[in-house]
Amino acid sequence: MVTHEKIVPKKERINRSTCLPFPPPDPALTRINARSLLLLIQARPPGQNIPRANVSRKTPLVIAPDTVRLALPRLPPYLLVTMTPENILPTYERQAKGFDRNRSKALFERVWLDRLLAHAPQSTGKRRVLDLGCGAGRPIAQYLVDRRVEVTGVDGAAAMVALFQENLPNVRVFHEDMRGLDLQETFDAVIAWDSFFHLSKDDQRAMFKTFAHHLAPRGVLLFTSGPEDSEVIGNVEGEEVYHASLGPDEYRALMAEQGLEVLRYVPEDPECDFHTVWMARLAG
Ligand SMILES: C[S@@+](CC[C@H](N)C(=O)[O-])C[C@H]1O[C@@H](n2cnc3c(N)ncnc32)[C@H](O)[C@@H]1O
Repeated sequence: MVTHEKIVPKKERINRSTCLPFPPPDPALTRINARSLLLLIQARPPGQNIPRANVSRKTPLVIAPDTVRLALPRLPPYLLVTMTPENILPTYERQAKGFDRNRSKALFERVWLDRLLAHAPQSTGKRRVLDLGCGAGRPIAQYLVDRRVEVTGVDGAAAMVALFQENLPNVRVFHEDMRGLDLQETFDAVIAWDSFFHLSKDDQRAMFKTFAHHLAPRGVLLFTSGPEDSEVIGNVEGEEVYHASLGPDEYRALMAEQGLEVLRYVPEDPECDFHTVWMARLAG
């Protein structure tokens, strides 16, 4: 089951009576999972600054890496490693098959994909869309191809690219990191759906130049983020994965700097499985 899709869901404090003692009874603590870690953090003695930690309904744990470091300075390296953006691509390499198998194919994204197609220009014979962090191509790239769109996929995990090729054998896909990407061509639309939010905050800031660089005049950008400035941990096929979000004001400012006008922004869209979605257009 893929549980990372709502990156900042409704929060609730964990019940203190379920807390484990702090410091942990086992000092070795080599295989602590994220949920136990949260319990440990919540169980810190009164009087100490208890960092904020949140639990969602679906995802077992939502917690900031800084909080982890603050709370348990001598964490085993295992934990510090799993909670960083650098570990994202290796995680998707390992979990590509399970992700493709279990990723929702209900196409709740359709409402936004249709909006994208309604707004995107058609600068050549066929509408051209760049899908950054395309994953295995189902259902998003598949839907676009079925709408006669010329899709180009990009993903940083080779295993995902291989699945994309299997699922959509006639569609172009590159094994590339979206950070600093330079394909030397422009597209009528760029999508970064549930992928951009795996980048660190600084990498996200830098991405707006890359988005704009790949958009044709009046080209449309569609991406998902969190609804507020945050760093959270989600779960893909049982492995913890890093997500980050800037605040909406900062996203707006970064887009304005690149000549991107926000067409629509819906935080936690109930029509789209509570994804926070942005659609913007490059100046013509
Ligand atoms: C949650 S999956 C989403 C896949 C697809 N967009 C979808 O909606 O099904 C995130 C994807 O982003 C890719 N990804 C994460 N960081 C990336 C990066 N820096 N460059 C390229 N792809 C990246 C991962 O390999 C993974 O395939």
